[in-house]
Amino acid sequence: MPQIKLCAVSEFGEENVKTFRVGKKDIAVFKVEDTFYAIDRKCTHLKGNLAKGKLVDKTIQCPLHGAIFNLKTGELLKQPGTLAGWFKKAKNTTIYRLLIKDDFLFLEE
Ligand code: FES
Repeated sequence: MPQIKLCAVSEFGEENVKTFRVGKKDIAVFKVEDTFYAIDRKCTHLKGNLAKGKLVDKTIQCPLHGAIFNLKTGELLKQPGTLAGWFKKAKNTTIYRLLIKDDFLFLEE
């Protein structure tokens, strides 16, 4: 399974999110306590930037219309709460496997 180096773990510092472009994948990596989670950066509803969302425990809330996703499973926990959500539904998102090796974060493809 190919592994793609993303960054040094220390590069997160006090930040809890970083974004990466890996081929055609646009990925947001969240740090929750000492665990990292990688999901598609774009919301499955209308492509809101989840990297700018509200991080609560192991969930991320989309900044555009409020859909909430489980960072560990990618499961959609709450549909968008506005009229936009009434017209178009969000769905589960894609998650990616991460690996920490020699203090570097890798994406497994
Ligand atoms: S774009 Fe994310 S909830 Fe609408």
